[in-house]
Amino acid sequence: MPGEPSMKILVVGGGGREHALAWKLAADSRRPRIFCAPGNAGTAQTAVNLPIAATDIEGLLEWARTERPDLTVVGPEAPLCAGIADRFESEGLRVFGPRADGARLEGSKVFAKEIMLAAGVPTAPARWFSDHAAAGEYLQAHGAPVVIKADGLAAGKGVFVCTTEEEAQDALKKIMLEKEFGPAGERVLIEDLLDGEEVSMLALVDGDKALLLASSQDHKRIYDGDRGPNTGGMGAYSPAPVADEEMRARVEREIFGRLLAELKRRDIRYQGILYAGLMITGRGPHVLEFNCRFGDPETQAILPRWEGDMLPALEACLRGELRQELVAWRPDACVCVVMASQGYPGRYAKGRPIKGLDQAAALPGVTVFHAGTTLAENDEVVTSGGRVLGVTALGKDLPEAVERAYAAVDAIDFEGAQYRRDIAARALGRKT
Ligand code: AMP
Ligand code: GLY
Repeated sequence: MPGEPSMKILVVGGGGREHALAWKLAADSRRPRIFCAPGNAGTAQTAVNLPIAATDIEGLLEWARTERPDLTVVGPEAPLCAGIADRFESEGLRVFGPRADGARLEGSKVFAKEIMLAAGVPTAPARWFSDHAAAGEYLQAHGAPVVIKADGLAAGKGVFVCTTEEEAQDALKKIMLEKEFGPAGERVLIEDLLDGEEVSMLALVDGDKALLLASSQDHKRIYDGDRGPNTGGMGAYSPAPVADEEMRARVEREIFGRLLAELKRRDIRYQGILYAGLMITGRGPHVLEFNCRFGDPETQAILPRWEGDMLPALEACLRGELRQELVAWRPDACVCVVMASQGYPGRYAKGRPIKGLDQAAALPGVTVFHAGTTLAENDEVVTSGGRVLGVTALGKDLPEAVERAYAAVDAIDFEGAQYRRDIAARALGRKT
């Protein structure tokens, strides 16, 4: 309507996921104004960046009290676990993302395991301990292989997949005695190892129902062939062929359906994205972890496939009126290749100028999402984080999307750039 002030949306976070969210929301037919806190050089193209950290809930609230955004979409888990949704809601502000009680599904792996067992959600058998000696004894009896997990948030670093008991005892020591993850390691889970293919299934949840989004697969290790240390995610593709219709129906029924029923029994109203990290085993899908938010980099591979507006689906979630018709997918495949800084996931260099962004973005089907980038004083885009860019391409099928994404990667250059050359290779292998 002419003269009507446009809708305001605040996106909390500053990585590739948030650039993808800001990009998708900015393209909505209502043309909302997007603000991103703190954002990056990429979000600056479609949003107004605010110099407020994603974890500074008081700072974000202060901005929101005066600016009154119509909607706030929270990217990372830390503010959700710290109760950003509760705080915003108590001031009459609409937030897309669960309250702290629901976010515990990600914030405490013990809580997630306990609730899955109560709900009958398929997951690896596990025991949990707060006493190191008791954990060690159990481990000795259990033997290897085994998976050791710190209970709390540990930026993806608190999980140890151990092939020998010695490795597992070492992990227990690191977590419980050396307290490498601080209070996140006060309790540990000792879990059976599952074998199979991993897939990420994200769902919109409106407090009552779950609506599955397109499937995707992440690549957690730094090097080709799934070697080297774990990272935040080096690339993703969507859809994941392992999640066929039959598997999606099982995931919907056996995982999301049962979990939501159990949350309800406990009076936990979950609203937002619920992300299930799954292992597709010979006995069907099993949950490795829940996240209370969009995945990164999965979101970069999923949102370009979203047909039409996303905003109505997010709003329907908040009203408890989610409907299948609100979500549709382009048949195209999408591939996101993460370009990371030299040294990542360890210490890495910053401030390196990035060349070729415009040339890459001009290639067919390509969108370059920024993660760890910032604008230097001369307005040049420079690196500022471990994961720097999510170079993303749509194609009529996975081979075309892969080819396009890597053509774009080839067009981009910064000193020390590292990336995997085998994103989606597993799915391509399956197809031939
Ligand atoms: P999580 O943060 O719990 O998803 O664990 C991180 C990664 O560790 C997962 O993506 C899997 O690759 C691996 N992992 C976690 N739990 C298990 C398990 N029970 N069996 C095999 N691999 C696992
Ligand atoms: N890509 C894994 C995550 O977002 O947790």
